[in-house]
Parts: sequence; structure tokens; C-alpha cells
Amino acid sequence: MEIWHWITEHWVLSTVLTLTSVTLLIALYDVLQQRHTIMHNFPVVGHLRYLLEMIGPEIRQYFIAQDKEELPFSRDERSWIYSTAKETNNTFGFGTNEQIYGVGYPVIKHAAFPIPDQAMKFPNGDKSWCPSLKIIGAAHGRARPFRPASVLNISAMSFGSLGYRAVSALNAGALTAGCYHNTGEGGISPYHALGADVMWQLGTGYFGARDENGRFSLDRLAEQVEQFPQVRLIEIKLSQGAKPGKGGILPGAKVTDEIARIRGIPVGQDCLSPNSHSEFDSVDSLIDFIESVASRTGLPVGIKSAIGKIGFWEQLSRRMKERGHGPDFISIDGAEGGTGAAPLTFADHVALPFKIGFQRVYPMFQAEGISNNITWIGSGKLGFPDRAIVAFAMGCDLVQVAREAMMAIGCIQAQKCHTGHCPAGVATQNRWLQAGLNIKDKAKRLSGYVRGFRRELVTLSMAGGYRHPGQFTADDIEFSTGVNKFSTLSSILGYTADPVSEAEVDAIFQLDD
Ligand SMILES: Cc1cc2nc3c(=O)[nH]c(=O)nc-3n(C[C@H](O)[C@H](O)[C@H](O)COP(=O)(O)O)c2cc1C
Repeated sequence: MEIWHWITEHWVLSTVLTLTSVTLLIALYDVLQQRHTIMHNFPVVGHLRYLLEMIGPEIRQYFIAQDKEELPFSRDERSWIYSTAKETNNTFGFGTNEQIYGVGYPVIKHAAFPIPDQAMKFPNGDKSWCPSLKIIGAAHGRARPFRPASVLNISAMSFGSLGYRAVSALNAGALTAGCYHNTGEGGISPYHALGADVMWQLGTGYFGARDENGRFSLDRLAEQVEQFPQVRLIEIKLSQGAKPGKGGILPGAKVTDEIARIRGIPVGQDCLSPNSHSEFDSVDSLIDFIESVASRTGLPVGIKSAIGKIGFWEQLSRRMKERGHGPDFISIDGAEGGTGAAPLTFADHVALPFKIGFQRVYPMFQAEGISNNITWIGSGKLGFPDRAIVAFAMGCDLVQVAREAMMAIGCIQAQKCHTGHCPAGVATQNRWLQAGLNIKDKAKRLSGYVRGFRRELVTLSMAGGYRHPGQFTADDIEFSTGVNKFSTLSSILGYTADPVSEAEVDAIFQLDD
């Protein structure tokens, strides 16, 4: 009582004494500990280093970085996604800020006579209507071929890597926007079953299609397909651009009870998928596996891969031609692609960037005369209309986006997906952090982004004299290739993609008449 009385009488002195004692204790601890040199050599102030390191990215993002500077997505790019998602004004005033003479700068060539607005007959007047020109699986006679209702779709991101609210928002948003939603390699969760079309991804862990010994089971896969009628496509993941040749990584901090149950793994431990598939180890056994899954389920089956050694693709195109079987779609992911967690060298130095990889592979299938039987899907920072148009001109039929979809539902590019501490509640399992993510609101944002994106694609197509972005050719695009020098994409690529006929475009417009 007396001490308390003394403290209240001399509160300034007692505060100073307390702070001094705490500082001395910290200093003593710093000097005695042997783990951190900086803290030992600079007791107390050494802690500032860790604090600054922790908040450095946010400080740079909010105060220092220029509009075009941040990576992997600049502030301008993120602003475009945010405003498109919110359906607010996403136009820019005063003219371009880009270095349009800079090497690598792309230009889309417009037509002297664009397609007039009144000549376009959108079903239900929906100016964002832009379905796939190809029906996936039709060329291989699959029992349940599928025409995606959108050329822009959501790329693989597992429940595990993302929280249940984020997955739910993506699925509900995809339903409204009419695009499909890729499950990622973590299997199908209840949050993927809110109604959108689903592409089920099978990674090396075969989550959702394992027997009690953890091995792949075709029976289990067929059961899941029956249980989830939303599944319209199956994607076998060979690799992804950010970590090719490395299995999936779900850090223990994200392995909750529910995720452990869905995947059949222990709670709280790192979930490391093997780096290679157990069901096939050659081109022919891969084709056999695809055929067995496709004939059992009736669904179109494809592969996802980043591009590294090219021999595999030469063989695949040759054997597909010889056997008349193989993937119904091929998703090519660029090295610039994202990940929930990857070793830095894999993210930075393994696999080719999207445009280079695609350019190496696609013409091999053209040379065999089978490129048109396959639906080509591109990914790797393609979530902007200009980049998607370049991808279409190169031969892509569809594009898939992952991080851009995350940003549409609130991701601020904090780049903490691997820690479980995503401040936006997107790439985390932490209940508190997720609590701020309103599923209904964010689903609307996702839908706003996808529809706004497609509306812009259609408008650009009309400016180019086309009714569908798939009609862009590599002669319609030029890249700056030097001082005052622009070259056509076709001359850079050394090929032109399979042409799209007016009849193919007529076919989709008649679909919904
Ligand atoms: C958080 C996160 C999780 C991902 N999980 C998977 C996955 O399970 N399987 C996969 O094939 N790719 C995965 N990816 C890669 C994306 O599907 C996509 O291929 C890549 O990010 C390129 O698209 P983007 O540039 O639009 O993000 C993931 C990416 C992110 C950001």
C-alpha cells in the first residue's frame, strides 16, 4: 500500500525508473544472447532493425514506390484491378504515363472501321459476354465436353493456401461472372461447391482422390466427380511457373483440422507433396492416365505445366498425333506466375517466362496438325486486357488468373502468403484475419473484375475490327524492338496461331440467340 502510495505521489520518477529497468534488462539479455550479432553488438537499438525489416514493405508500398515501380504488380496495375472490381471509374486521364518507345512495349493495332456498337448482339444485352470459342474435349469425343462461358477464369489456388472465406468469395463471384474456378491441388472443399463451374486440379498429392493408403484411386476420383456435379474439367498438374519440379508446399501454420481432414494429412505439420507423380513417369503413361480418367468420368482432362526442357513437348505432340489421344487442354504457366510458398531460386530462376515458353511449345502441336484439337490456356500475369490479347494472338483460347483474382477480393500484395499472416485475410487460415473478409461483398468484387475485364476485351476486339478477342492475330500486335523500331508479333514468334473463322464466331453468337 505504501509502495503504491509512493508510486502515485512520484509517478514521473517511477515511470522513468520502470522504463530504465526494462531497458537495462533488455540490454543485458541482448549482450548475453548469442543468436543475433546485431542485437549483441548494439543492445536495445538493434531491435529497431527487426522492426523496420518487418514494416519495410508496407512503408515502401505506401510512401516510397512510384506508380509503375512496385513488383510483381505496380500500383497502377493494382489500382486498375481494384477499381474494376469495385465497378468504379477505372479510366485514366490526361494520356499515357508509359514509356511507349521502350523495348518490349506492346501495341494493339486498331481497325480504321471498328465493329459498330449497334452491330454487336450480346445475349441479354450483356456487354461482358465472351465465352470460349472452343468446346473442350469435343475433338477427342469426350462424353461430357465443356464450353467455358468465359475466356477469363480463376487459376489454381487451394483451400489451404487460401482461407475458406477467400475460396467462397472466389467461387460465389465466379458463379455470378460465369467463369470457372480451379480448385488448386488441395482438393475439392465445400467452399468450391457454391455453384460455379469447377476445374479440379490433381497434383502429385492427389488430394481428394486418394485411397486409405494415400495412393491415387480412380474409384475415389469418380465418386468425387459424382458428388460434385460442378466439376466440369480435370487438370493434372505437372508443374507451375513459380516452382516447377518442386512439389506443393503448405506450411504447417496453415494445416488446420478441416484442411487436414480434406487432404488426409496430420494437423499443424508442413504438407509437402512429392515432386513427381506416382501414376505416370513417361509421355505414354501420362497419356494412358489422362485417358483412364477421361473415360471413367467422361470429363475433359488436361495438363498444367511450366516450360523447361523441350524434349517432353516434342514427344507429347508426336505421340498425341500417333495415338489420337491425350490432353484436351494444355495450361501453360509462365515463370512470372505466383505461388503460396516456394523457394526463392525456384521462383526466380526455374522455367521460362510465359511468352517464351508458349512460343516454344505451341508450334510443335501445329506442326503435327493437332493444335486446334486442344484448348490452350495461358497464365502468368495475364490479368490485364492488353496482356490477355497478346496471349490470344499467340494461340491461347483462354487465360487464367490467380493473384489478380486475389487482389479483386482484397489482397494488398503484402506477400505474406507463405507465413499464414496475410493482413487482408485472403491467404491465411487465421480466423481473426479472415473475419474482415465479407464473402458476399468480395464475391461481388470478383465478379466486377471478371466482367469488367471481359467488357474491355470485347471493346478492344471491336476496335480491332473483331467480335471476339480470339480473332486477334499476331500481325495485329507489334512490340517495340529498338530505337524507333516496332516489329509484328508474328515476326518475333516465327509462327501465326491457327486462324479463327467467322463461322466459329457465328456459332457462339447463335448459341444464346
Ligand atoms: C496463393 C497461390 C496459390 C497457388 N496454388 C497453386 C496450386 O495449388 N496449383 C497450381 O497449379 N498453381 C498454383 N498457383 C499458381 C497459379 O495458379 C497461377 O498459375 C500463377 O499464379 C500465375 O497466375 P497469376 O500471374 O495470374 O497469379 C498458386 C498461386 C498463388 C498466388
